[in-house]
This record gives sequence, structure tokens and C-alpha cells, in this order.
Amino acid sequence: MTIWAEAMAAGLHGRDGYYTRGRGPGQDFRTSSTVAPDVFADAIAALLGKLPLGVSDEVVEIAAGTGAVLAALAERLPPQVRLVGVEQRPRPAGLPGRVEWRDQLPAQVSGLLLAVEWLDTVPVDVVVDGRVQLVGVDGVERPGPPVPTGDAAWLEQWWPIGDRREVGCRRDDAWADAVARLVSGLAVAVDYGHLAAARPPMGTLRGYRDGQVTAPVPDGCSDVTAAVAWDAVQAAVPGRSVLTTQASALRALGISAALPRRDHPGYAATLERASRARLLLDPEGLGGFSWLVTQPGTDTTGSLEWLG
Ligand SMILES: C[S@@+](CC[C@H](N)C(=O)[O-])C[C@H]1O[C@@H](n2cnc3c(N)ncnc32)[C@H](O)[C@@H]1O
Repeated sequence: MTIWAEAMAAGLHGRDGYYTRGRGPGQDFRTSSTVAPDVFADAIAALLGKLPLGVSDEVVEIAAGTGAVLAALAERLPPQVRLVGVEQRPRPAGLPGRVEWRDQLPAQVSGLLLAVEWLDTVPVDVVVDGRVQLVGVDGVERPGPPVPTGDAAWLEQWWPIGDRREVGCRRDDAWADAVARLVSGLAVAVDYGHLAAARPPMGTLRGYRDGQVTAPVPDGCSDVTAAVAWDAVQAAVPGRSVLTTQASALRALGISAALPRRDHPGYAATLERASRARLLLDPEGLGGFSWLVTQPGTDTTGSLEWLG
């Protein structure tokens, strides 16, 4: 048995882990990127257009998954904009040649750094009654050692009360490390999560297998995911940032689910797109996800006011 963070790291990201073996979005669960990559890419292209000239020369997507958003961006952005997918899964077949595919973040990013449903895959530990839970590959738990000092301090600040609390230090560090590479531009993290005023008392760790929510089992055959403690992630990075809902961010970027008139040319295709845009805007679904938009501390150009 190991602590949950180690079990998640091995079960998801290890050599025979769930993601490393090529499973993930589009198979066991849906994401904005797989439901409507074209609509999402329209929003990202609009976001890139909001950056000052000279700051919009690359889009780096960490946790690029199937590469669907980058493929759609390749159709929308001029060839001088560099498109980079950072992903531990193999390069998807059919990805446009101009999209670079690598397994590590570049040292520097200038433009947009995008992370859709990455942070919920960053390993967390689980604490019950002051003890770190140990877990086996079958998902069975037993109490382990007392909480280490650093994790206890994080819990004290961000999640002081609850029967089953999740330690988000690794997630905060992961986001801080990614944003530290951004020389100029914006970093955007999209995910589901919670704030201090409404932490789920029983935690959020869960699994996905064959499209169904399951108990979390770190066996490499199912996804294991934990909702993001957004306020902690936001505080981990100095500089300006805005936390808003996906629905608000997409609307501010010009995405609409308005239905076309029946005599609209290309009525069927426009209707189909509107119905997929509706999925991204749905406040009870993907529209209720959060966007954390961060400007690196070194960058004073541009503005986040368009987010409202
Ligand atoms: C929940 S999926 C989301 C994929 C995609 N962004 C989407 O929205 O469909 C998480 C993805 O993050 C990738 N991932 C997680 N941690 C990573 C890391 N440190 N480096 C590269 N890829 C990572 C996984 O391989 C997986 O494809």
C-alpha cells in the first residue's frame, strides 16, 4: 500500500498508467476539448487575439489529450503561430504536421499556456482523522502515518474542516511551475473544483471507467481524478488572475448557442454547432467549470478586464 499521491502518480502517469497507455478523454469521459473542439478553439483564437501584438506567437497546451483543440487551432491561426502539445500520451494519428508534440513543458512560453482538465489529474493525498490514507491497487484503504508538516500547513490554510480532505500542494506547485515559464501572455486553466466556502466534506476523489463514475481505484485501468481547490491554486501564483466560469469566459470571447434562422445558409451545420456550444455553456455541466486566467508577474501588458 502507498499514499494516494504515489498511487495516483503510478496508476495514471506511471509506465503502465491509465494515461500513459493511451486511455482518457473521449473514451471514459467527455471534456470540452472532445465535445466541441471547434467551438473551444474559436474561443482560444479569440483569446489570442486579445493579447498585444508580439505576444501572440505560440499556444502551448499542457495535457493536450487527443490534440483535438490544437488541430482545430491549426485551421484557425496563421502559420506563424507556433502550436505545441505537451502530453505524456503518444502523438495522435492525423494531427496536423505544424502541431509540435512533446512530453515536457518548454522552458519558456510566450503567448497562451492552456491546461484543460490537467489539474484534476495531479496527484493528491487524502487525510482522514489526521492520518494520511494508504491505498492498494484494488482501491482498499487503511489509515497511514500522521500528516507531514507541510501538508498539515496546507490543510490548515485551505481545507481545515472535513471528514475526508485532499491535500493540494502538488497541484499548486504544478500550476506555479507551469506559469513561471510564461514570459508574456496568459495562462488558462480550465477544470472543475471548489472554493473554501464549500469544500466537499467527504472529498472529491473518484474514478471513471467506460464512461461511468466509479470509486477511485489506482490500478491503471481507470481514471482517478480530484476536483481543484481553486483558491489555493490561484494564490500559488503571484500576479493578476481572474477566476470565472467557463460559461462567462466563453460568452466574453464571443461564443453563443443562439439558434440559426431556418432560412440561414448552412442551417443544419450551424444548428449542430449551436447545440455543441450549448454543451460548453451549460451552467449545470461544462459551462459550470472554472477558468483561471493568470497573467505572469513579469508581464504588465494586456488586460483581463474583458473577463468582467
Ligand atoms: C483529463 S485528460 C484531459 C485531456 C484534454 N486536455 C481534454 O480536455 O480532453 C488529462 C490529460 O493530461 C495528461 N497529463 C497529465 N499530466 C501530464 C503531464 N505532467 N505531462 C503531460 N501530460 C499530462 C494525460 O495524459 C491526459 O491526456
